[in-house]
Amino acid sequence: MLQLTLYKKIGLLFVCFLLMTACKTSGDQKFKDRKVSFNSDWSFHLNDSIIDKDTIGASTKWSTLNVPHDWNIEGKFDEKSPAGYGGGALNGGLGWYKKTFKVAVEDSTKVTSITFDGVYKDSEVWINGHYLGKRPNGYIGFQYELSPYLNYGDKNNEIIVKVDNSKQPNSRWYSGSGIFRNVWIETTDKLHVAQWGTYVTTPKVTAEKALVNIETTIQNQNTASKKATVTTTIFKEDTKVTSVTQNITIGANANQIIKQNAEVETPVLWSVEKPELYTVVTEIAVDDQIVDQYKTNLGIRDFKFDLNKGFILNGKQVKIKGVCLHHDLGPLGAAINTRAIERQLEIMKEMGVNGIRTSHNPPAPELLDLCDKMGFIVMDEAFDMWKQTKTKYDYGNDWDKWHKKDLIDQLLRDRNHPSIFVWSIGNEIPEQWNEKGVEIAKELAAITRQYDKTRPLTAAMNPPVNMNIDDVTLQFEKNNVQINPLAASGVLDLIGYNYAHQTYEHHQKNFPNTPFIATETTSGLQTRGYYDAVSDTIKKWPVSWDKKFEGGNAGNTVSAYDQVQTPWGSTHEATWKVIKKHDFLSGMYIWTGFDYIGEPTPYEWPSISSYFGIVDLAGFPKDVYYMYQSEWTDKTVLHIFPHWNWKAGQTVDVWAYYNKADEVELFLNGKSVGIRSKKGDDLHVMWKIPFQPGTLKAISRKNGKTVVETEIKTAGNPSNLKLTADRSTIKADGNDLSFVTVDILDAKGTLAPNANNEINLSLKGNGKIVGVCSGDPVSHEPYKGTKHTALAGKCLVIVQSDTKTGRLELTAKANGLKPATIVITAE
Ligand code: GAL
Repeated sequence: MLQLTLYKKIGLLFVCFLLMTACKTSGDQKFKDRKVSFNSDWSFHLNDSIIDKDTIGASTKWSTLNVPHDWNIEGKFDEKSPAGYGGGALNGGLGWYKKTFKVAVEDSTKVTSITFDGVYKDSEVWINGHYLGKRPNGYIGFQYELSPYLNYGDKNNEIIVKVDNSKQPNSRWYSGSGIFRNVWIETTDKLHVAQWGTYVTTPKVTAEKALVNIETTIQNQNTASKKATVTTTIFKEDTKVTSVTQNITIGANANQIIKQNAEVETPVLWSVEKPELYTVVTEIAVDDQIVDQYKTNLGIRDFKFDLNKGFILNGKQVKIKGVCLHHDLGPLGAAINTRAIERQLEIMKEMGVNGIRTSHNPPAPELLDLCDKMGFIVMDEAFDMWKQTKTKYDYGNDWDKWHKKDLIDQLLRDRNHPSIFVWSIGNEIPEQWNEKGVEIAKELAAITRQYDKTRPLTAAMNPPVNMNIDDVTLQFEKNNVQINPLAASGVLDLIGYNYAHQTYEHHQKNFPNTPFIATETTSGLQTRGYYDAVSDTIKKWPVSWDKKFEGGNAGNTVSAYDQVQTPWGSTHEATWKVIKKHDFLSGMYIWTGFDYIGEPTPYEWPSISSYFGIVDLAGFPKDVYYMYQSEWTDKTVLHIFPHWNWKAGQTVDVWAYYNKADEVELFLNGKSVGIRSKKGDDLHVMWKIPFQPGTLKAISRKNGKTVVETEIKTAGNPSNLKLTADRSTIKADGNDLSFVTVDILDAKGTLAPNANNEINLSLKGNGKIVGVCSGDPVSHEPYKGTKHTALAGKCLVIVQSDTKTGRLELTAKANGLKPATIVITAE
């Protein structure tokens, strides 16, 4: 038996400790990111008179700003805007950005590139007078190599970016204008992993083991061939899981794809409840010196769309409870901010949402990173049109020249995200109705499958029924419909239909071999806090899709009871009831999670933002949010509405959304006005009661025992302001945000539900107010101002840190009301 002396034992323990710490080298601790932010200190000029870069003269006045930047959001809403109210009534224009910078001498032996995550639109870029190229698509990321044209050392470099969003209309929704996503400078060795150069897949996943295939494109920009080792290491947090190494010889100025296989024992799976991530770090070493490192997120999961059982994730059926999102961030416009996206996703998660459709374009990379981290099932969509345009100057004009490159770049950029489960090659594409569309779809499908075979492909098609004829079901049952040639072509892995929930039950008859997904649903319409008198009738606004809307009211509001829908859509309840009922319906993506700027259906000017959101433009939930929460989450829900400020004697419809209970009893000023229970597939209950000021209290019960109680009260006159921050400590990094809600309360602290006071805001400390918004689709007050009129007693203020730490003191005032102050700490 081996006898160890005490010293030997201590020595051995020490060696073990060293080995353990070496193995714990995380991707993060030693990892040197090749990308650095290139967002700050750009000069900007908005002027249609400068039409080419040579006419920029010494007299041109530039302002200094940081990107991401959306110049439109600072503009004035304009009834005559060529963008139309559909585009948010904010004009596009022609903008110029430039930036001077120095590059260290030691980088002269390296490769330096600039990456734009998205520039809307038609951007052109010059470095030191050399033209780098043009990119029409505003939503795609692109990179230019700068090295051949750079000055190194003390001499300046100048980059100029022209952004041309002057041809309008080019979008059916608010696009924003400018360098609206992040910009990065990437410096690598001449031997490096190519841009979007890894492709990590998990062809076999069991509880015991996951096979991980790693395909890496190595790029050698040296004029000599190179011998190197490529090591791919998989980490779980800080712990090394496994590692594979391969020696390569790569020719001069060549690309080489290498394939490596690894195994992860007892993998921790990615799911919507626990989105577990691994990190894959690729290292290229020459003569034992690491010359390049590249990081890829990995989520190990196994999924399929089943003909009978719908979406199966890691062996379990998961109903996709998704929402569609446009890319704007309400009052922040289209300029991306990671915290603002994260907040949107948090609000969606709280409601029970588990899926996001990036309608109708590739999103900011940060959205996908967050979906990976937070657990969403993403449908990543490429296009809103193919060759046939939907608005005069849209991407259809660029289709022939660019669609292939744009699609490939989207696939390369996005295919490692574990949150992406479906590729959508287009939304409501007019060509779906003819053979030309089938031809294009075949081309797009071939490209998609060339770059990723691990996910199914769909298209969000228009339903093959006439939604203007009331009995949609009958049309389908009688086979009195023309199935879209695209759907019939067999090109799609998943049949995706927008709307026509009445037809979903017939899907298996028409497509016995292809699973189904409701790519877009509902299109309910609501204004937060506004209620029409009779709630149990359903209104179609407009009455049919080809008719101009006549009706509504002078204030351009829509009832927030779930009773108003577009003719092509449904109420929220109607579609969810169908999706819920059948296992084979894998899920749905509701139009929309959040309101967005533009497309103010059913209204036109003066409305400028949408009514479709379950949550308004400011981020305040409308009532139907709680219907979904009662159905989609484990939270105990009892939500009663409307507010309790009406005219004496007026009959008010009171709705309740609830769960975990078998009845709800309502009391007005202590007296019961009746018990209600949901029957059959009901999703709410209702009372009609004559208004009397006071307190309306609801109690939900299960087997006679109280589950939860809630009450609403008649508010007196507006008296006080109250400020509540979503986070009262933020990072002093110049980007972080605190979202502060301003509530208008009566003297006793009850929200004044009809208050629409003008709120004046001021901020002391190192930071600024970067957005104000009430969620009112008719408001024309600037989102970038410091005063705003509240809607239904509420308004939102967004405060941004700068790079200095300290106290930020936000004060809200309104005539005749007691002001309020809140302190936010920037750390
Ligand atoms: C759909 C379309 C969406 C949006 C929506 C409004 O047909 O795909 O982009 O326009 O209608 O209801």
